[in-house]
Amino acid sequence: MIDRLQAIGAQAVEEIRAAGDTAALEALRVRYLGRKGELTACLKGMGRLDPAERPRVGKVANEVKAAIEAALAERREALRAAELERRLAGEAVDVTLPGRRGHGGGLHPLTLVVRELLDIFGQMGFSVAEGPEVELEYYNFEALNIPQDHPARDMQDTFFVAPGVVLRTHTSPVQIRTMEAQKPPVKIVAPGKVYRCDSDVTHSPMFHQIEGLLVDRDVTFADLKGVLTEFVHRYYGPDTGVRFRPSFFPFTEPSAEVDIQCVLCRGSGCRVCSGTGWLEILGSGMVDPAVYGFVDYDPEEVQGFAFGMGVERIAMLKYGIDDIRLFFENDLRFLRHFG
Ligand code: PHE
Repeated sequence: MIDRLQAIGAQAVEEIRAAGDTAALEALRVRYLGRKGELTACLKGMGRLDPAERPRVGKVANEVKAAIEAALAERREALRAAELERRLAGEAVDVTLPGRRGHGGGLHPLTLVVRELLDIFGQMGFSVAEGPEVELEYYNFEALNIPQDHPARDMQDTFFVAPGVVLRTHTSPVQIRTMEAQKPPVKIVAPGKVYRCDSDVTHSPMFHQIEGLLVDRDVTFADLKGVLTEFVHRYYGPDTGVRFRPSFFPFTEPSAEVDIQCVLCRGSGCRVCSGTGWLEILGSGMVDPAVYGFVDYDPEEVQGFAFGMGVERIAMLKYGIDDIRLFFENDLRFLRHFG
């Protein structure tokens, strides 16, 4: 019997040391020490032993049981430690990895360009005015001396919203609203969205303009030339050539379009300037006396000049962008150039 007990003990200890996880270990505990276990079954046979043998066998039985329990405890501890080790390895943080970089937002290139342009005029003493994008025909056309049958009113250009109401086709109506609201002197720039039924690589149905208006006593065409030349030199650089070319607008007389020396070929002629060496950047002129009649200004007392420029065009020429749609597609690869 002693041999048998020792054999059970030896086998149990061997199997326990090989147990792969806690479930297998528990099964071994039940198998050897449980109520129906092998050791228990063996001990039940003790009753049949010679009473003189019992103490010796009992002692061995206790030793075997203690050895099995010790092996179980040892293995349980080893498995627990291994499991902990594995979990910690899985959760480990490599503090030497480079950190994640934050993604900073940025302003849209058009916002940046508008701010820069307003800044230049701000330094010349112009303050900022605004007007509505949904505008009365009266302000968009009538009061700007654009009569009912003028081609600019054509359905092909203008988005009509309701009878007498349009999406403004330029920022010039802000001239009228400003003069209606305040007495001279007036010295404002008005940025904003404008709308025309037009769409190709250089035209978008919505685009941005900046309007300028200066009205005071003794204002001459020389003042217009001075302010706009200064603007070109500040925005495109002091060496940029400027020319004033006679033009026509119903609300200015005389009128002039302003050209800058081609930013690409510097005046020698290329594809961008169609070989002329010049690029048109804005429309301007002396406020037509007829316009003063609509806002109750006295043309004998005051004179003024106005100008209007397309922001996208100004930006395209500055940065060499050849497709206006890039401004509105919000492709980050484009936008990030201006961060
Ligand atoms: N409003 C004109 C346009 O959109 C530009 C302009 C503004 C011309 C002011 C003269 C004076 O073409």
